[in-house]
Amino acid sequence: MRILIYGAGVIGGKSMKNIMIRGVIFDLDGVLVHTDELHFRAWSCIAEELGIPFDRGANDRLRGVSRAESLERLLALKPEVRLGDKEKAALCERKNSLYRASLETLTAADIPPAVRAVLEILRKRKLRLAVGSSSRNARLILQRTELEQAFDAVTDGTMITASKPDPEVFLRAAALLGLEPDVCAVVEDAPAGILAAHRAGMYAIGLGACATGDGIRPDLLLSRLTELPALPALGGEGSPPSRTGIR
Ligand code: BG6
Ligand code: MG
Repeated sequence: MRILIYGAGVIGGKSMKNIMIRGVIFDLDGVLVHTDELHFRAWSCIAEELGIPFDRGANDRLRGVSRAESLERLLALKPEVRLGDKEKAALCERKNSLYRASLETLTAADIPPAVRAVLEILRKRKLRLAVGSSSRNARLILQRTELEQAFDAVTDGTMITASKPDPEVFLRAAALLGLEPDVCAVVEDAPAGILAAHRAGMYAIGLGACATGDGIRPDLLLSRLTELPALPALGGEGSPPSRTGIR
């Protein structure tokens, strides 16, 4: 696996001097906006109805994967709950209604100024910016938070045939940006997204401890999005982001 060693100037065995990322593809839920928490609350309601024990740790395994796959992972926590396809479809529908209701109060104020500032810095450096999300609600969220105009391209759950960890959503984003995968970096909070980025041949930057689950390791792990502009590969001058121990 390629490792980005911060400060040692190496990405994938090449000198960092020779690497310049030209496009950054951001996951949405849990990276740009706190909708990961709203997914958690909606799934918690469904889990309670089904009598399935569910907590934040269990929810972390649902990050990045599709709604239908999330339900499968939830049901796997209690194998004696067996449901047919129609029941599963109805539960997904219900979860989405709960989730959509919670999106109604989402506004531009839900995006921290620091997040907007990061996007602005990257844009000024002429990096191409995209969102690559598994969510079928991504457009709605981008509109409600007034983030849509910050990106050159958006790919979401309505545009793909396979969800993360499949690379489709990121490959489509790179194509819309007019870039080859190997000059793109992905910013992700989910192991499924890190795996998708690697399968796409892109650099995978994890955000937060959840990004390292399931034995999957990003090329670099950041604690906060505000650490991103310092990365030399993104045109930064390299004041160190907090080291979180990815080797
Ligand atoms: C991802 C979330 O962004 O989108 C997952 O991390 C979610 O938790 C997936 O299941 C699909 O979202 P939606 O909005 O289409 O149900
Ligand atoms: Mg996410």
